[in-house]
This record gives sequence, structure tokens and C-alpha cells, in this order.
Amino acid sequence: MNVFTPYEIKNLKLKNRIVFPPMDLYCSKGEGVLNDEHYVHYVSRAVGGVGLIIMEATAVVQNGRISDQCLGIWDDSHVEGLKRVVDGVRNYGAAIALQLNHAGRKCRANGDDLNYTVAPSPISFDDTYRVPKEISKKEIDEVVAHFREAAKRADQAGFDAIEIHGAHGYLISEFLSPLSNKRMDEYGGNIDNRVRLLREVLEAVHEVWPSHKALLLRLSATDHLPEGMTLEETVQVVNRVKDLVDIFHISSGGVQQASIHLFPGYQIGLSETIKHRCQVPTIAVGLIKDFDVIEEILGNERADLVAMGRALFRNPYAVLQKAFEKGIPIEYPGIYEEAFLDKLR
Ligand SMILES: Cc1cc2nc3c(=O)[nH]c(=O)nc-3n(C[C@H](O)[C@H](O)[C@H](O)COP(=O)(O)O)c2cc1C
Repeated sequence: MNVFTPYEIKNLKLKNRIVFPPMDLYCSKGEGVLNDEHYVHYVSRAVGGVGLIIMEATAVVQNGRISDQCLGIWDDSHVEGLKRVVDGVRNYGAAIALQLNHAGRKCRANGDDLNYTVAPSPISFDDTYRVPKEISKKEIDEVVAHFREAAKRADQAGFDAIEIHGAHGYLISEFLSPLSNKRMDEYGGNIDNRVRLLREVLEAVHEVWPSHKALLLRLSATDHLPEGMTLEETVQVVNRVKDLVDIFHISSGGVQQASIHLFPGYQIGLSETIKHRCQVPTIAVGLIKDFDVIEEILGNERADLVAMGRALFRNPYAVLQKAFEKGIPIEYPGIYEEAFLDKLR
């Protein structure tokens, strides 16, 4: 198995193992509306040959935006712009997923309104963030319904897959972590309670998301803090939701400031543990820039797919370039073949 071995799960038929992970461009100028900057960015990555593109954190409701510049999918009017990107990306043989998010206490949108943000408990991320309102049971039900509606719209826009954002200290991740979830009701305390919102969201999404289409979940496998989520607890979370998820995208951190020991591939071990302990397909991500490292991850079955974020920001054509260097016969996009195969008309 190598980078260019196809991968298939449900409707996803990926031409290689490289994923472009969700990365917020923070460039929406209207209320969550998509523009040419998004289009050019995502279609360029598809031209560059990645197997799967996961579009950035897209808010299921206004106060679920990370910033005023984030994409949204809380209104039917958002579907048209998203569909344009889906169609553009498809033209180049990449599959495309959309990441659905609620930012919880890390919402910085609508900055003047001190009552705008919600979270499991009224604890701010740090001094620079607003203190959130403790979300009520009724509001939790509304959030679940927003995810359901968002999934329906993502299907209408033609996405091949959706990824639920359960990582990086946004709302779902805030419920999972004991650092941000101090609730005394059925959503706080033991792991079954902290996972409850996530399961409700996944179950609601399944009501509308076609069963033949893939569903991904991104998790922070550890908070990198002694009192926070540990890898061991994340194994328990995965085991409690894996009947509802096709691929787990394993990241870490983001619930609370922590000093993280960063090095190339620093999260690969988290993916490996979850893949083997829980027997689920995973995506490894985090400071992975080198194709030899990717071969190692895939060859040693430490993940099924590998995401390259900043590396593909720097060089969107890295995948084509690697196929060219290795002499792997891939389908180059249209006229690009002339550049890589030194053909002349
Ligand atoms: C500018 C920027 C925006 C990001 N936006 C998102 C996002 O919308 N959703 C998400 O889950 N992660 C987001 N991330 C995290 C990336 O998906 C990825 O996990 C991280 O960059 C590490 O991978 P890399 O070292 O290959 O870049 C973002 C990272 C950066 C640098």
C-alpha cells in the first residue's frame, strides 16, 4: 500500500490517500456566504491531485461561528455557493466533504454582544474570550436540530461526505472534556454523559444524511493537560459512537491553553492507538509534510488516510509532483499533463 493506492468506504472512492484537512480561510464577507476566494482555494487543491478535500469549519447556526468571517450553512441561501465549490472540485476527480461546526465558547462572532455565546458551563476559554452562557436543555435540542438541518443542506449541495467537528475545544469537544464541562445534569460528569451531545448530534444527522454517504468525526484525542481528556478516554468515546461514524479524524488540543510538544507527525501515535484499539478507519494529521513519512504511516497501518494542511497551503501541487517524481501513472488534470509528462502538442 502506498500514497497512490485508492481507498474506498461507502460512496467515497478516493484516488489516493491524501486528505486536505478542514482549514478556515476566515474570508467570508457576508453572513457565512461563500465567495471566489473560497472557490479558487478549494478547486486549486483539487487540481493539485488530493484524494479528499474537507472544507473548513462551517457554522450550523450564527452563534456557532468561530468568527464573523466563517462560512455558514444555517440558511438555505448558503447551499448555492457551496454547490459551486462541490461541482468545481468534482471536475478534478477529488471527493469533497464539509465540516459542520458549532464553536461554543470559542465563538468570537458578533463581538459586542456579551450574551451571544453558549457552552456546557459558564467558563471562558481565556481572558480574551467572552464568558459563555450555560446552554439549557432546550437550547441543546436546538443545536442538535441545527446540525440535522445543516446535514440536509450539505446533501443538497452535493457533498460526498460530512465531518462533524468534535475537536479543538468547540462545542462538542467542550462537552467531552472535563475541563470545560462542569455540568451536574445528564450531559456532565461521567463519560456516558459527556458523550451524550455528540451521540445526539450523530443520531440526528443520520436521520437526514443518506446512508450510502460517508460520515466523518474529528476528535481531539487528548487535551495535553492532566485533568483533561486523555487518549484512554477518547478510546472510550470512539467505542461509544463508532456505530455512527465511518472515519475518525484524529487531532488534539484546543480546549484549554496547553504547552504541546510539537514535532513532525506528533499526532500519528494517537491515530494509531485509536485505529487499533477501536478497530476503526482513521485519518492522521499534524505537521506531516514528507511523503516518506506518509508511506511509513500507511505501510505500518497507523492510519488509513493522511492529511496535509499547511504543506498543501504552501504547495497545492505536491501530490502531482510526487507522482511525477516516482513515475506513478496518474491522471493529470487536462493540460497539466504537458507540464508533468514533458509532452508537446
Ligand atoms: C489557518 C488554519 C485554519 C484551520 N481551520 C480549521 C478548521 O476549520 N477546522 C479544523 O478542524 N481544523 C482547522 N485547522 C487545523 C488543521 O485542520 C490541521 O489539523 C492543522 O493545521 C495541523 O495539520 P498541518 O500541520 O498539516 O497543517 C486549521 C489550521 C490552520 C493553520
